[in-house]
Order: sequence, then C-alpha cells, then structure tokens
Amino acid sequence: MKIVYLLLTFGMITAFAQADENHEIIEKVMKEGLKGKTSPLAKTLDGSASGDEIKKLSELIATLKGTKAPVGDQAAYDEKVEALVAAADKVAGGAKDDAPLKTLKEASNCKACHKEHKPKDD
Ligand code: HEC
Repeated sequence: MKIVYLLLTFGMITAFAQADENHEIIEKVMKEGLKGKTSPLAKTLDGSASGDEIKKLSELIATLKGTKAPVGDQAAYDEKVEALVAAADKVAGGAKDDAPLKTLKEASNCKACHKEHKPKDD
C-alpha cells in the first residue's frame, strides 16, 4: 500500500510545481511586458518603442501560449491569449498601418482578462 501514498505524494508535488511555473511565466509577461506607463506594451502602443523592443515584447507575450488559466474557463482564456499573441506578432512584423496596433490594444485589455482569469487574492 505504501507505494500508493508515495505515488499520490509525488503527483501532488508535480502538480504544485507546474502551477508554480505557470504563475511564473504569466507574472514575468505581466511585469516585464505589460505593466506600467513605460512598459514595452505601452511604448509599442504609443509608437515610441524601437523595432527591437517590439520584437522582444512579442516574444515575451508568445510565452503565454500553453499557460493554464489560474481561474475561469480555459477555452475562453486560450482565446484571449491567442488573440494577444497574434496581435503582438503582427505588430512586430512591422505592419505600417494602424489596424494591427488597434487590435493589439483591444487584445491587451487588462481588465477584460483579469476579471475572468486573475485570482482575486493576487
Ligand atoms: C490574456 C489575459 C491577460 C491580459 C490581456 C492581461 N493580463 Fe495581467 N494577468 C493575467 C493573469 C491570468 C494573471 C494572474 C497570474 C497568476 O496569478 O498566476 C495576471 C496578473 C497580472 C499582474 C500581477 C502579476 C503578479 O503575479 O505579480 C499584473 C501586474 C498584471 N497582470 C498586469 C497587467 C496589465 C497592466 C495588463 C494590460 C496592459 C494585463 N495584465 C493584461 C492575464 C492577463
């Protein structure tokens, strides 16, 4: 019987480790890419970011792909992440008109995503 407990414990530790890693990925993107008036996202949206900064931002945002929604519906979260990654990608691709920027602004709506997927005690 002991082996069962051992496996259960191991399973729990693995689950915690994965949740932790998930949180770290999301936190890194939020803090290094999205948060604040001078964040790479803010600079990208107001047009003051360099091509390099925009590319770095899109690469950072792409790490959100495959993360688990801490709360809320996973499919709805995936959809938001997908839209955000695609929009950042498009802007990084150097599109000249304003449409991709507008899409990025909509896809990076902090409140829309946090309301459904950010834990309340965070
Ligand atoms: C596609 C969804 C999504 C979008 C868009 C989004 N966030 Fe988040 N954000 C999250 C999730 C999910 C968490 C909670 C992560 C966790 O607790 O594991 C979070 C957490 C945060 C945190 C707390 C990080 C920490 O754990 O210390 C900050 C700060 C933050 N977001 C800033 C922003 C800002 C600013 C914007 C808009 C410019 C934004 N986010 C847009 C999903 C999003």
